[in-house]
Amino acid sequence: MVEGASSGIVVASPSTEDPNYFYTWTRDAALTLRLLIDSYIHGNTGLGSLIQEYIISQARLQPVDNLSGTFASGAGLAEPKYYTNETAFEGEWGRPQRDGPALRATAMIVYSKALMAASGDNNATVRDVIWPIVSNDLNYVAQYWNQTGFDLWEEVNGSSFFTTAVQYRALVEGADLAQALGETCDGCTSQAPNALCFLQDYWNGTAVISNINLQGNYQRSGLDCNSILTSINIFDPESGCTDSTFQPCSSRALSNHKAVIDSFRGNLYTINSNLGPGEAAAVGRYAEDIYYEGNPWYICTFAAAEQLYWAVHQWNTTGSITVDNVNSDFFNDLVSNTTNGDYASDSPEFTELTTAVRDYADGFVAIAQKYTPENGALAEQYSRENGTGVSARDLTWSYASFLTMEMARNNTLPQSWGEVEANSVPNSCQASSANGTYVEPSATSFPAVAGDPSGGGSATGSAEAGATSSAAASRVRPLVRWEL
Ligand code: NOJ
Ligand code: NOJ
Repeated sequence: MVEGASSGIVVASPSTEDPNYFYTWTRDAALTLRLLIDSYIHGNTGLGSLIQEYIISQARLQPVDNLSGTFASGAGLAEPKYYTNETAFEGEWGRPQRDGPALRATAMIVYSKALMAASGDNNATVRDVIWPIVSNDLNYVAQYWNQTGFDLWEEVNGSSFFTTAVQYRALVEGADLAQALGETCDGCTSQAPNALCFLQDYWNGTAVISNINLQGNYQRSGLDCNSILTSINIFDPESGCTDSTFQPCSSRALSNHKAVIDSFRGNLYTINSNLGPGEAAAVGRYAEDIYYEGNPWYICTFAAAEQLYWAVHQWNTTGSITVDNVNSDFFNDLVSNTTNGDYASDSPEFTELTTAVRDYADGFVAIAQKYTPENGALAEQYSRENGTGVSARDLTWSYASFLTMEMARNNTLPQSWGEVEANSVPNSCQASSANGTYVEPSATSFPAVAGDPSGGGSATGSAEAGATSSAAASRVRPLVRWEL
């Protein structure tokens, strides 16, 4: 795919200096693959072989020992990045990063479910080719979820909200896949509730404090787009506004959205000056960021929109919207004098609020659009002063985040991961761990797939939404300009 990279390896950016991102990050790759897999499921059939090459590449990559640890102990699975020829990177880095194995497991589980839902029988393929890889990652998560590590920004050593959340999700769907295959993941079942229990610790009553248990002195408020990325990554289209899992429409996630976006207002970014509350803004990682002088990031700006599109989906499917003490400041920024209450979908308040939220979401997209150059290139960041591209050019994750936002805007739904069955928080939290075993995956190529898992309709949309057609999915491409 990319010159200088092995088959199936996702390169973070073609930039080889200032900064050099010509590596493969487990996180960036898994998030990108999840987008491609969702797009494939919605009818983008051409992506099948790419997805399979990715899976086989990860079978080769998992056993590579590295500075995070050995494969035999599982610890090596949390190495954040590798050379694109699949060898270990041995420079200094913020390691380990424990979100990677969870995100990779999730991507492969989503694909596995699509294969198993196809008309042909692909169970043996999933069991023999994909499960051994997924099982290593799930074992890793079940064993190490309760240990501190570096956050997704590779800077802070501690517990990271994003990491705990994606670990919880992977354990939940991992348990389901194991069962469907007649395999086992005892650690998934035993540790998922513990991870969910721990997830509650990041909530302070108004916002998510994205980094806790810090091992070192970091000057951070904890308001971080980490938390908004979390909401879109553990969104479940069948769920309601669950607070415990910070679903996009949950009171917690809305209150947090306001707190995080507000932290980017004021004098922080020139391009945000003169914006009032409730007006969309350019969004960065966190206000104290100094990397490349600290700028807005495309992934964070798109995520701010994406959370809100999914929230609207959830209100539409649950048939009501609730304004309460936790989320009322969020709503009052958009529609003043909104009073607390439950508003059914046939009420004028429901229409007014959901319309305002969708318009607000469109505002974030419009800002990213305004600061995208004519040729559509998405760098990692855009300048806080004038909106021109900053840091790595053509960041794969930036494009992926645009496309997942677009799917949300079109209500092109991902599959459920089972949140509804797994969202109740145990009464007391157990800081435990399940010992894992790690076995070198043997697959070196991907067998032919039976039936057609793409466009097979395994991802169902709600009737009122109606935008889950493959026509919508076929528009998923590294799009350069877009119309609102
Ligand atoms: C510091 C940045 O903030 C971090 O996110 C990045 O990954 C590393 N430097 C390496 O480029
Ligand atoms: C720096 C970001 O902080 C990190 O999240 C990402 O994985 C790498 N760049 C590669 O894109």
